[in-house]
Amino acid sequence: MDLRFLDETPNDAEREAVDSVLGPPESGWDGGTRLDTDLRYARGGHTARDRRDLLLPALHAINDRVGWISRGALDHVCRRLTIPPAEAYAVASFYAMFALQERPRRVVHLCTDIACAAKGSGPLRDRLAERAGPPGGHDGDVTWHESPCLGMCERAPAALAIEAGTRPRYAVAAPATPEALDTLATASPDPAANGHANGHAAGPSANGHGPGPADRDHPAAPTTFDGAPLPGTDPEPDPADAVPDAGSSDHVLLRRIGRVDPLSLDDYRAEGGYSALREALRMGPAGVLREVSDSGLVGRGGAAFPTGRKWQATASQPDRPHYLVCNADESEPGTFKDRVIMEGDPFSLIEAMTIAGYAIGARTGYLYIRGEYPRALRHLENAITVARERDLLGDDVLGSGFSFDIEIRRGAGAYICGEETAIFGSIEGERGEPRTKPPFPVEKGLFGKPTAVNNVETLVNVLPILLMGGPAYAAVGTEGSTGPKLFCLSGGVRRPGLYELPFGATLRDLIEAAGGMPEGRSIQAVLLGGAAGAFVRGDELDIPLTFEGARAAGTTLGSGVVLVLDDTADLVATLVRVAAFFRDESCGQCVPCRVGTVRQEESLLRISRGGDAASEVALLREVGQAMRDASICGLGQTAWNAVESAVDRLGLFGPAPGEPAGKQTS
Ligand SMILES: Cc1cc2nc3c(=O)[nH]c(=O)nc-3n(C[C@H](O)[C@H](O)[C@H](O)COP(=O)(O)O)c2cc1C
Ligand code: SF4
Repeated sequence: MDLRFLDETPNDAEREAVDSVLGPPESGWDGGTRLDTDLRYARGGHTARDRRDLLLPALHAINDRVGWISRGALDHVCRRLTIPPAEAYAVASFYAMFALQERPRRVVHLCTDIACAAKGSGPLRDRLAERAGPPGGHDGDVTWHESPCLGMCERAPAALAIEAGTRPRYAVAAPATPEALDTLATASPDPAANGHANGHAAGPSANGHGPGPADRDHPAAPTTFDGAPLPGTDPEPDPADAVPDAGSSDHVLLRRIGRVDPLSLDDYRAEGGYSALREALRMGPAGVLREVSDSGLVGRGGAAFPTGRKWQATASQPDRPHYLVCNADESEPGTFKDRVIMEGDPFSLIEAMTIAGYAIGARTGYLYIRGEYPRALRHLENAITVARERDLLGDDVLGSGFSFDIEIRRGAGAYICGEETAIFGSIEGERGEPRTKPPFPVEKGLFGKPTAVNNVETLVNVLPILLMGGPAYAAVGTEGSTGPKLFCLSGGVRRPGLYELPFGATLRDLIEAAGGMPEGRSIQAVLLGGAAGAFVRGDELDIPLTFEGARAAGTTLGSGVVLVLDDTADLVATLVRVAAFFRDESCGQCVPCRVGTVRQEESLLRISRGGDAASEVALLREVGQAMRDASICGLGQTAWNAVESAVDRLGLFGPAPGEPAGKQTS
């Protein structure tokens, strides 16, 4: 392999950041001091390349510490892992949160996606531009970007600031007032004084799963991010504030949110935590598989695949090892349910992953969490550390002889990495590009081994299934959609937030649970399922919120997004934002999606500027069909869904609702 290393060298801070993930270099061959033995034989090769999955954590470590990834730093990582710099560059440049050019240490991410746009992110964007210059600027103390959905839609409009340093810190402004945004856009006065310079102090665990310095507010559990908010900023509200009816006795999945300290295992146990794992160990893997199959649980990540079947298929593969991947990438615009679970009840996910690993015969689980969730990351890192200390993870879980541990991997701003095969590439240190199926993940998944990928909400459903029994769980909801379901309600309703309802409730029930619409406002449209979903009209509120009900109504539940657009919302602007999202997030691997998402956005922009809607709709239809038919993965296949529904269902560009616009106008 021609590695072609560069001539540039890392500075001390960059070297330390990489070493905090990979350990100190062992020889001159991987960037350390040259030893006599180095002159006689080469080291590295296979051994180093086997650790390629540490590329993403190493890139994070540099970005966290310095704020950007220099050529010298990239070269150093490449030497340590024996990766050609061109490949590492291809990986680093894949992710929106990494910068390959020098930039200020503080980066503000302002969400301008659909839910935040509906709540006024536009004027905030103008204010930021006035204060901090154009997005992505390299001068000054702060830079900023317009961000896709930050997963804080219940508090829209939202902004997140991350400041690099020996201990990176963050702050959130949501709902973001102009004043709060001004504070986010003001860098810490003296970073050196508070240990945030790019200096030599020992850094935290940059890969998110190893030891680091003690946390000031929770010494038992070292975490990647400092818990103290950035100077002058307000602390984040309690995770339970995202659940308007927190504490309700009807809750199953959310029942602990607001009742337990998310950092306390004792609290979790006092509220029934870890009784499901004990039950699982008692009934054995086959018993767990039976209960999950009997429960009728289907995946909550969007594809609605039966979990029992996925687990059975993985467990039965002769090839070893088996892996579990928890998909916590949650980047579908409008979705924030997994964040609330991870922030408010993190031990439940750790327990559920342990049970899943037990059932499918895995010893290692990867928890892939999106990069824009620093508080959820802190809480999960804490939970994993504490669980290890208390023998709930590790070599002999609860003295059962079963070994299982969890590694966290942080995404870095790429929606596509939530796709179940793209996530493998991302963990393996490759670009997060989807793979063609078959082979399916249950046969050849992570590192080419049998893998079960499950969403956070799917996994936490396993706890009540084991405690109440599969058949009893199956009795909740409807025949085709069993159990409780989380809905991410945002937009114009009185009380946006995360709601838990048994399957079978209608859209009207959900909106009424949120207090309905404010006085004088009416519903123009509801987007179900997020950007990949579809619009329904304000007079279609009797649609049952079940997988089969949504399907029968020609829409989808997706990951549980319900975005209510009132009569003041600009629907064309919403569509343009959806199209921009897909264009930006397409991995570019296949032509229909790479080109189609661009054409779709261009066409919608022309309409928004007064272009001829009839001919544009005809073009949109053709492009949309090509994306649906010929794209490799779900991104391209669904990129036209929302636009199509706006045309055909809402009649946005002319004809009466229900009549195909293109047919009439072209
Ligand atoms: C573009 C794209 C993005 C996705 N993002 C996520 C995600 O962030 N979280 C998730 O759980 N599933 C996501 N999915 C669905 C996954 O591919 C997969 O179906 C899911 O993780 C399986 O878990 P489940 O069976 O528990 O639902 C995405 C799919 C596509 C096509
Ligand atoms: S459909 Fe789009 S996102 Fe999916 S593989 Fe093709 S180019 Fe990439």
